[in-house]
Amino acid sequence: MNLDWLTSAGIEVAVLRLDLIDALISGNKWFKLAPHVQAAAAAEADGLISLGGAHSNHLHALAAAGRRFSFPTVGLLRGTVQDTPTVRDLLAFGMQLHWLGYGGYRARHQPGFWDEWRERYPTLYPVAEGGGGLLGAQGCAGLVPLVHEQLVALGWTDYDGWWLAVGTGTTLAGLVLGEAGAHPVYGAVAVPDDHGVAQQVRRILHQAGMAEHGYHLLDAARGGFAKVDSELAEFIWACEAGSTVPLEPVYTGKALMALRRQVEAGYFARGSRLVFVHTGGLQGRTAALRKHEQARLDPAAGDTET
Ligand SMILES: Cc1ncc(COP(=O)(O)O)c(C=O)c1O
Repeated sequence: MNLDWLTSAGIEVAVLRLDLIDALISGNKWFKLAPHVQAAAAAEADGLISLGGAHSNHLHALAAAGRRFSFPTVGLLRGTVQDTPTVRDLLAFGMQLHWLGYGGYRARHQPGFWDEWRERYPTLYPVAEGGGGLLGAQGCAGLVPLVHEQLVALGWTDYDGWWLAVGTGTTLAGLVLGEAGAHPVYGAVAVPDDHGVAQQVRRILHQAGMAEHGYHLLDAARGGFAKVDSELAEFIWACEAGSTVPLEPVYTGKALMALRRQVEAGYFARGSRLVFVHTGGLQGRTAALRKHEQARLDPAAGDTET
């Protein structure tokens, strides 16, 4: 990635373009979903049921996988009925949707949450929010050898760390498992503190019997999950103009902006080489940037938040 703020700090960044692996099952999603799909097959389930918001990249990938591989999917959604481009795709992919309200969705961590849904869909295998947990992380551990195989082509003999966006912490935990302490993993956390990312990463590492080191969590939420301010939108457009990498504002844009902050603060020594994981999410790019795109075309509309 040739961006002026990287070049002037003497930092090299290689982007692991997981957004390119599939048009629909994009980014980190397949790595997190694959072990759940295998577990569902081993349990002789017919399909999968999971949960997320009206812009969920996870549900989008799950619904697309269901359509591609011909298994039924059910999505439990946060809030009341919404018509978003993601929701339209979910329906087009054949996912059956249930809107849980906000309180109902908050109950997802309660012990009895799944009972009702297991009774209603006894042949479907439940997958935690975002494809999370140890299984999802184990799928993401496979990203480490994927990068090692490509180092020679990059002309690198080694790298100094990973940089990626964090939502639930599953992908980061997977990299920590895969690295087993060999290289540090830096997570730019796109959700506020009360989402419990640190606890979730700790839980996964504990379940895997791994020591709790080899990673750093840095705040990248910029005022809240999926909050998009005009500085972030401008940053994304500037990076896209200066490279060939498309970004979206909820995860990858915030992660790269947090990297710039750390690079400019001298967090990494000159000559450092980092692997930036492009975790996908581009299906939500247009909706997430819409207001800012409109303000760009019509500056009189002013600064807006989404
Ligand atoms: C595009 C994108 N990037 C990053 C993440 C964060 O991944 P994780 O929940 O594994 O931390 C997500 C959420 O699943 C996502 O959709």
